Amino acid sequence: MIKNNKLASWLDDMQALCKPDQMVICDGSTEEYDEMWRLLVDAGAATPLNEDIRPNSYLVRSDPADVARVESRTFICSEEEVDAGPNNNWKAPAEMRATLNGLFDGCMRGRTMYVIPFSMGPVGSPIAHIGVEISDSPYVVTNMHIMTRVGAAVLDQLGEDGDFVPCVHSVGQPLVDGKADVTWPCNPDNLYIAHYPNTREIWSFGSGYGGNALLGKKCFALRIASAMARDEGWLAEHMLILKLTNPEGASRYIAGAFPSACGKTNLAMLMPTIPGWTVETVGDDICWMKFGDDGQLYAINPEAGFFGVAPGTGMDSNENAMLSLTENCIFTNVALTENGDVWWEGMTDEAPANLTDWKGNPWTPDSAEPAAHPNARFTVSAAQCPVIADEWEDLKGVPISAILFGGRRATVVPLVNEARDWTQGTFFGAIVSSEKTAAAAGKIGELRRDPMAMLPFCGYNMADYWSHWLKTGEQAGAKLPNIYYVNWFRKDDNGKFMWPGFGENSRVLKWVFERCNGTADAIETPIGNLPTLDAMDFSGLDLSEEAIAELLRVEVDGWLAEIPLISDYFDEYADRVPPAFRQELESLKARLEASQQNVA
Ligand code: GTP
Ligand code: SPV
Ligand code: MN
Repeated sequence: MIKNNKLASWLDDMQALCKPDQMVICDGSTEEYDEMWRLLVDAGAATPLNEDIRPNSYLVRSDPADVARVESRTFICSEEEVDAGPNNNWKAPAEMRATLNGLFDGCMRGRTMYVIPFSMGPVGSPIAHIGVEISDSPYVVTNMHIMTRVGAAVLDQLGEDGDFVPCVHSVGQPLVDGKADVTWPCNPDNLYIAHYPNTREIWSFGSGYGGNALLGKKCFALRIASAMARDEGWLAEHMLILKLTNPEGASRYIAGAFPSACGKTNLAMLMPTIPGWTVETVGDDICWMKFGDDGQLYAINPEAGFFGVAPGTGMDSNENAMLSLTENCIFTNVALTENGDVWWEGMTDEAPANLTDWKGNPWTPDSAEPAAHPNARFTVSAAQCPVIADEWEDLKGVPISAILFGGRRATVVPLVNEARDWTQGTFFGAIVSSEKTAAAAGKIGELRRDPMAMLPFCGYNMADYWSHWLKTGEQAGAKLPNIYYVNWFRKDDNGKFMWPGFGENSRVLKWVFERCNGTADAIETPIGNLPTLDAMDFSGLDLSEEAIAELLRVEVDGWLAEIPLISDYFDEYADRVPPAFRQELESLKARLEASQQNVA
């Protein structure tokens, strides 16, 4: 069955190392999907939901010690430490290989090794790439079925000598000496999510959750792909892709990078509040872009599904996500209702009187802990989204007109700010900072730099990645997207969000669209081009003129206070920082100081 030579010999090696009881080559079929759930349900590891309410859907509860990506255990094993950069944990490849060979030796005893051939991107797209994940987790198989394209078509595409990224995954709990299985096997004390960018390999041990275990997603489509993109002259980004259509029926495609749990899924499925405009979804998390012959950047969504944050998702905040979730879904770490449906904080205004919480314990609205884990997720096929764009699987991708960068910033950063050119836009992306969320283990709310929303996902030295972005802008004949720095998360003195956000973000998208068309006004300010007050459509919005002015104000003092922090931040990357960034910082400072003098 396996014709590909590299794959056949790699599978021999992996079987010899992991010593599973058996090996199963996955074909991506419905029968296989159903069989995985039969195994999981029989083992008590999954609960089928009420067929009358949410058909063909399952609830899975993870081990409470395995609930999110673990950045402290994620490694980039480049030959030289400096090539991983201060943004990554580094281990020498030989040292990591020795450690992992020890851990993987016999790690699948008593289990099945599933071989999952998958394509990131529509099979046959010139922007797509193939991976093969081996895993001892049937839960991973089910999620990969939805999140990627799995099966025989991928093996056909691979042929006899096609290349693929090998992705090795184990939950790290061999069943030896009569040991009984648990419902969510994992090994948090020996956690490794290791990447070898030079040889393009991924090895993950000890976790079954999300980006730690679904290796096509962050490990391949971002960390390894970013290194491939650097070498091959394209971009692999943590971005949503949306299609925006104006009342005249003209469309543009916009990509946006916001850190984890900062609103990509929301923006990708947004329902515009301004009449006549529509948003359709191409992708909600990852974007691969390559130049077309016409000099434009064409983007594909390499994924086939959404692995979205459940808490905070409701008919008010994201109706299209809710409507995607009516059937054929996987829910991980949400609460279970008395009638066999799911619930999470923010799904409805009022919590049900009695629930089973994400740990399997009885829960009432008086309980001290949330019913769903803050990083509880749904897995659903993108095809189920009611506003999925017709062209979301176009092999050639969609041409990108604008790129948005943003994060959670309670202060200083205005609602929207247009970069003068690609260089300033790249600089904007590099200086984004954002409050940490529950998507990764660690302290929530802490402000940290998250350049291009790629801090946890760039597979090499971040400063080299900035240089790669700048070089991309110098491509001969390139028709580059406009770049914008946006912030939905400004707060007032009482800690309340100043901007209503969600569907109202369509007002910002409209301005961006019209800037791309050359029909909307902006004023040049020291920090970039801001919309004039009448260039943005605020009609019908319940927001005072003062609030609008504040959202679009250049906070000169606040920005001046940022300058030394940005400078210190760049210093962490020493001489690898692109000189153009130092110049951008200097001229930003000079413009801010000049404007201060003008006022004085
Ligand atoms: P990952 O899947 O982790 O990469 O994240 P994501 O960027 O897709 O996150 P998602 O869209 O699921 O973000 C959800 C969080 O962002 C929720 O807490 C939402 O309430 C919040 N959010 C999204 N859009 C807005 C907005 O316009 N304004 C405000 N205030 N919050 C928003
Ligand atoms: C993120 O954390 O940005 C995610 C979820 O999209 S995970 O796949 O777990 O990384
Ligand atoms: Mn993400």
